[in-house]
Amino acid sequence: MSAHRIAPSILSADFARLGEEVKNVIAAGADWIHFDVMDNHYVPNLTFGPMICEALRPHAVDAQGQRVPIDVHLMVQPVDALAQAFAKAGADLISFHPEASAHVDRTLQLIRGAGCKAGLTFNPASSVDVLEWVIDKVDLVLIMSVNPGFGGQSFIDSSLRKIEKVRKLIDASGRDIRLEVDGGIKVDNIRRVADAGADTFVAGSAIFGQPDYKAVIDAMRAQLAR
Ligand code: DX5
Ligand code: ZN
Repeated sequence: MSAHRIAPSILSADFARLGEEVKNVIAAGADWIHFDVMDNHYVPNLTFGPMICEALRPHAVDAQGQRVPIDVHLMVQPVDALAQAFAKAGADLISFHPEASAHVDRTLQLIRGAGCKAGLTFNPASSVDVLEWVIDKVDLVLIMSVNPGFGGQSFIDSSLRKIEKVRKLIDASGRDIRLEVDGGIKVDNIRRVADAGADTFVAGSAIFGQPDYKAVIDAMRAQLAR
């Protein structure tokens, strides 16, 4: 299994200081920046678009000036045009909900064709059957452990079974696919989520809800290192 990654979601950051927040959470040890795009159509909330991604792109660098991946999670319908706009705006990974695209295989190809890694995102009640037909076109599987649209919700335990199932699918494929989990991840449950097979962890309120981002990320890493 590849090294664990912590991907703070800026949905819970201070929207009045997003550039600073991105720099601070990277300095605190973030591996990726999780970018929750909501259109008030696919989910009942509205966040930010490609222009904010473009504005934040130069700030998503580590102490060595290396690019920190911007992990765009599209909770939008339709998907294609916005996916292309985010690719142009500097996204590194773009995942979308298969229910939101009429042609999932084509949307995955479009994201990779735009130079980004492509991912599929599965809601708590969604099956992962589509992976059987497109496993060769995904670089990332994002399992929702909350219903999409809001930060600060409680972790849905049934997602653990889905993580185990997808971990088996990825391992059987022999492909380099990251397994990311999103929603309700805290210091006190991240180990359980890793044991189920996840290697990448989105956390919004658990990190941005605390004054010391580094203390939280260090505590999460300590749990993962156990
Ligand atoms: C919800 C978003 C999640 C959310 C996670 O639709 O996809 O990324 O920000 O927030 P927490 O970690 O607060 O549950
Ligand atoms: Zn998300």
